[in-house]
Amino acid sequence: MSSKLWGGRFAKETDRRVEAFTSSLDRDARLWEVDVRVSQAHAGMLGRTGVLERAEADRLVEGLAQVAEDLREGRSRFEPRAEDVHSEIERLLTAKIGPLAGKLHTARSRNDQVATDTRLYLRGRIDLLQEDLHRIQAWLIEKSELNRRTVLPGLTHMQHAQPVSLAHHLMAYFWMFQRDRERLRDARKRVNRLPLGSAALAGTGFPVDRGMVARELGFEGVCENSLDAVSDRDFLVEFLSAASLTMAHLSRLAEELILWSAPEFGFVVLDDSVTTGSSIMPQKKNPDVAELIRGRTGRVYGQLVAALTMLKALPLAYNRDLQEDKTQLFESLDTVESCLQMMHLMLSTAEFRVGRMRAALAGDFSNATDLADHLVSRGVPFRQAHEVVGKIVAHCLRTGAALESLSAGELREFHADFGDDAPACLPHEAVMAARVSEGGTGPEAVGAQIEAARALLEAQRPPGDTPVHAARAPH
Ligand code: ARG
Repeated sequence: MSSKLWGGRFAKETDRRVEAFTSSLDRDARLWEVDVRVSQAHAGMLGRTGVLERAEADRLVEGLAQVAEDLREGRSRFEPRAEDVHSEIERLLTAKIGPLAGKLHTARSRNDQVATDTRLYLRGRIDLLQEDLHRIQAWLIEKSELNRRTVLPGLTHMQHAQPVSLAHHLMAYFWMFQRDRERLRDARKRVNRLPLGSAALAGTGFPVDRGMVARELGFEGVCENSLDAVSDRDFLVEFLSAASLTMAHLSRLAEELILWSAPEFGFVVLDDSVTTGSSIMPQKKNPDVAELIRGRTGRVYGQLVAALTMLKALPLAYNRDLQEDKTQLFESLDTVESCLQMMHLMLSTAEFRVGRMRAALAGDFSNATDLADHLVSRGVPFRQAHEVVGKIVAHCLRTGAALESLSAGELREFHADFGDDAPACLPHEAVMAARVSEGGTGPEAVGAQIEAARALLEAQRPPGDTPVHAARAPH
């Protein structure tokens, strides 16, 4: 007779290689804590609905608490060859309270159990990601507040386009992370529904109370259809999709830090504590953390595609393919979480070189639009003004003069309508400050932006209502 949960109908032991191939314990062991919580809620409900004797249910809940305590204290361990975390928790419970443990699995299946565990675990990790994102956003706001008048080249096509403030540049990332948080919050709603009570696929004949379990575990409601409940992993795809965009944003920011810390830019100096050296070139200080954030982005995209591919053409209801969801989820969760934490560390220790940013603007013609706008304000059609200023730029390129060094008289040699105040629009600070439109880089507009961001950040503090003990580290 087999030692499996399902050994009854088998005459032979499972091939060891098959055991190794099918086991998920190395990945799902980290679900043990939520698995225990889910089982406790299930057992409690079975007692209150009369499916089990009250005393039996109490004993199960108590025994599960002891199993959890033993695992937490390192007094018991999982068998490396075991099938999965669910069978291991049941084995440990049996060792603790004897055959009564066999009643825990009344009116449920591992199919609804694992879907419930995964959702509960993910919900807790989403809340932790909200905190990580919140921390970066708070830093971006603080840094922006101090740099509303710090100018640097704004680029398009990697060429100097128009000057922007450092605050404006940093706040662009605030809004990316804000959308990430909103997507996570939205995805969490669909994560937070209870599959348990669907049993293997068809529901159960026992008079279970699914709402009771949902309330106890903090789910917003129950999954409406048992077939869907055990085979749905949309919630996971939604999370992976949100996480992929977060990684895209982190990767873009990482890329800019890499560029900005190159000597040709020199806009930022990353701290020694977050950079690494070279085994051959003594002078080197490399932005490896930023590069790895950029490099690991592909892991999360890959897992998103893996999840979508796993679900494609999967017939109802549960199929073992779905076990792959743990790899997809956990690798992505760990990657996005560690990258967010590393990004915060890198940013909060970085030194921004505002002198270098300012110097990069000298003679760069990123004030040319404003010179054309000056003519426009004096009645010249924009197209004509564009042409005139283009000629002035070409002249400067020939002579080596900076646009901002030309006098009103010199400008009038190109067009009679330049006013005496024309040179006043050319300093880069003035160019930046002139962008007063809502959402623009002018200090007033950025001030309003920061204020709106601050209000959002205050209003959307991370919920933090789901303690996931030891959730971050695999057991
Ligand atoms: N380890 C399995 C998984 O993660 C648990 C569910 C197993 N169900 C089954 N019918 N074999 O999907």
